[in-house]
Amino acid sequence: MTLSRKPEPKSEPRILLGPGPSMTHPRVMQAMTFPTVGHLDPQLLCLYGEEQELLRSVFGTQNEWTFALSGTGTSGMEAALANLLEPGDPVLIAIHGYFGERMAEISARQGALVDRLNRPLGEMFPVEEIDTALKKKNYKLLAIVHAETSTGAEQLHIPEIARSAHENGAMILLDTVTSLGGIPVEIDKWQVDAAYSASQKNLSAPSGLAPITMNSRARETIEKRKRPVTSFYLDLKSYANYWMGTHAYHHTASASVHFALTEALHILIEEGLLSAYQRYRSNAEKLWGGLEDLGASPFIPSEYRLPPLTTACVPDGIDPHQVRNRLLNEYNIEIASGFGALKDKVWRIGLMGYSSRTENIDLVLSALQDLMTDSNG
Ligand SMILES: Cc1ncc(COP(=O)(O)O)c(C=O)c1O
Repeated sequence: MTLSRKPEPKSEPRILLGPGPSMTHPRVMQAMTFPTVGHLDPQLLCLYGEEQELLRSVFGTQNEWTFALSGTGTSGMEAALANLLEPGDPVLIAIHGYFGERMAEISARQGALVDRLNRPLGEMFPVEEIDTALKKKNYKLLAIVHAETSTGAEQLHIPEIARSAHENGAMILLDTVTSLGGIPVEIDKWQVDAAYSASQKNLSAPSGLAPITMNSRARETIEKRKRPVTSFYLDLKSYANYWMGTHAYHHTASASVHFALTEALHILIEEGLLSAYQRYRSNAEKLWGGLEDLGASPFIPSEYRLPPLTTACVPDGIDPHQVRNRLLNEYNIEIASGFGALKDKVWRIGLMGYSSRTENIDLVLSALQDLMTDSNG
């Protein structure tokens, strides 16, 4: 190793049980060491075709416009909103946590007319509430987060919400950053017009790519824009041309992250999506049971609790930040604190992708038990 500032020497890799990144699968680590190729190399362009097919399987879609953007999940969010919205377009953002609020902020920066529909932290929307809001205006777009990483809540009833959006003349954009690969996502069956995700959570690759998919309605909306997309970098028409058209230079995409994501997608498809979802659920149930025993019950009701991300209520008398720091420094395990109003109330424990293994659950539960006994004593 010749880095001038090395990560702390540890004999074992960090046990990443936060809200992402998850641990990188050894096969994915190996793929990242392949010799790099240029962004216009036929080898990379051929890999894009393979990556697209794998992404279509994971998203449950036949959408031609399915690719992976250079950048993290936020670039997927920003690309979707910047391409679908033009200044003055009315957009409804259904917010049940921090990332919904981020969608509203980005939409406002696009000059869209943003209406926020808010749900208290840790709750999800009943379909009727969204339906009533959609009827109030001629919205162009409804945007909503499927799996809210800030609270650990899944927004159920996406097919019904999509139907309501369409009946009211709007498209639906779904954030699948914490759901894709971790719980069922069926873009075509649910009739979702546009969705994006991130490489570093249930897909078990490093961060750096944002998978995105757009159906023909979304694509036509983008093709018929009155003004060019404000972001040159996130212009999806240029992306589509680089991936699937003339392959004209758009930006110097990193081959290494595409090697990594493609290998990660192969691993997921080899395991089988249904088997992977079952593994996440049974591991999450083991974690939930252990947390109950420690007096740190899950915050979200089981009906819509996310297997990939659990918020656990911090027991009275325990300093959540001290426990979290000691977990990292003494046990080599990363978990996260809560967000916003939940900052001092919950821990966020992720069991995403390659991190979702029973040995990791045993480790985190026994470390939490030690540290909480210590704090109480
Ligand atoms: C639901 C959700 N949306 C968007 C993002 C933003 O992704 P990134 O941090 O990769 O930019 C995150 C990140 O955790 C997320 O959980």
